Amino acid sequence: MKIGNIEFSDQPLFLAPMEDVTDHGFRLLCKRFGADMVYTEFVSSDALIRRVNKTEAKLKSSDAERPVAIQIYGREVDAMVEAAKICEEYNPDILDINFGCPVKKVAGKGAGSGMMRTPELMVEITREVVKAVKIPVTVKTRLGWDHDSKIIVDLAEQLQDAGIQALTIHGRTRSQMYTGEADWSLIGEVKNNPRMHIPIIGNGDVTDGMSCKKRFDETGVDAVMIGRGSIGCPWVFEEIKHYLSTGEDSPKQAFLWYMDVLKEIVTTNVEHTGERGGILHSRRHIAASPLFKGIADFKKTRIAMLRANTVEELFAIMDEIPSRFEV
Ligand SMILES: Cc1cc2nc3c(=O)[nH]c(=O)nc-3n(C[C@H](O)[C@H](O)[C@H](O)COP(=O)(O)O)c2cc1C
Repeated sequence: MKIGNIEFSDQPLFLAPMEDVTDHGFRLLCKRFGADMVYTEFVSSDALIRRVNKTEAKLKSSDAERPVAIQIYGREVDAMVEAAKICEEYNPDILDINFGCPVKKVAGKGAGSGMMRTPELMVEITREVVKAVKIPVTVKTRLGWDHDSKIIVDLAEQLQDAGIQALTIHGRTRSQMYTGEADWSLIGEVKNNPRMHIPIIGNGDVTDGMSCKKRFDETGVDAVMIGRGSIGCPWVFEEIKHYLSTGEDSPKQAFLWYMDVLKEIVTTNVEHTGERGGILHSRRHIAASPLFKGIADFKKTRIAMLRANTVEELFAIMDEIPSRFEV
């Protein structure tokens, strides 16, 4: 499958854009484990046009990440067009528009999934952004605002007509936030709509080879996007790819192998943001990592890891785990 001129292997896996997670270091790591495309954290068009340094820093990527998409959000045509042009200066392969974020500070103001309530404006922004840049523009959105307004099938056609070159659908409504189970049936309906010809990327609750294969098989989507399943678990891409190509789970690595990957996340974060920021930034990965799930009597150690304030303290706790627990 192709997005613009970018060619992907069969059944590609994309790393989802995630605020405070998919920074440069994490994107590179996921890439190393086989992610076929990575996305930046979303960036606010309003902050970009004010040229806020901290926001603009999020646009930077390296060639090793390619193909890489920058994702923007906002609710005004002019600001989105101007922000899109600024993003293009950073030379990403794709510009993605976020019409899916459910959090109040975004959706409540009409941006992100808030746009589900003003689909005409969503389509207008999309059309103008497509016109404003030379790189392929894609959209990431949800099924609809709530259970009674799942507009995605019709909306997908309109977004395609506005010129986007791929569409990612997270199988939840805005009202669901992240609760319940992602519903892939409408994602399949969009994919199998004979009017649709752009690639459809399915997203929601894929965390392992079996769930990924099921989604590809049932819906025929062109790519699957993985978000939370990669937090504290960047090797998930390698595991899923192994399953997709062999139908079997990949052989387990030694506990210390996984631990080294987690330590690498910490070290990279500390290199980029200093010790305090780097440790804070890594906590989400440590808390979510499947590596520590199911270890008996682990609670105290988990809390100690999440309270550690220095790399030395954190790594000392981690280093003790193999001798103190059955891992
Ligand atoms: C911590 C976190 C941050 C997120 N930030 C973004 C974001 O910046 N842009 C976006 O489009 N979606 C964002 N999402 C949504 C994910 O990209 C994805 O659509 C959602 O988590 C469902 O996929 P999953 O079940 O594989 O996690 C975020 C999700 C999480 C958990």
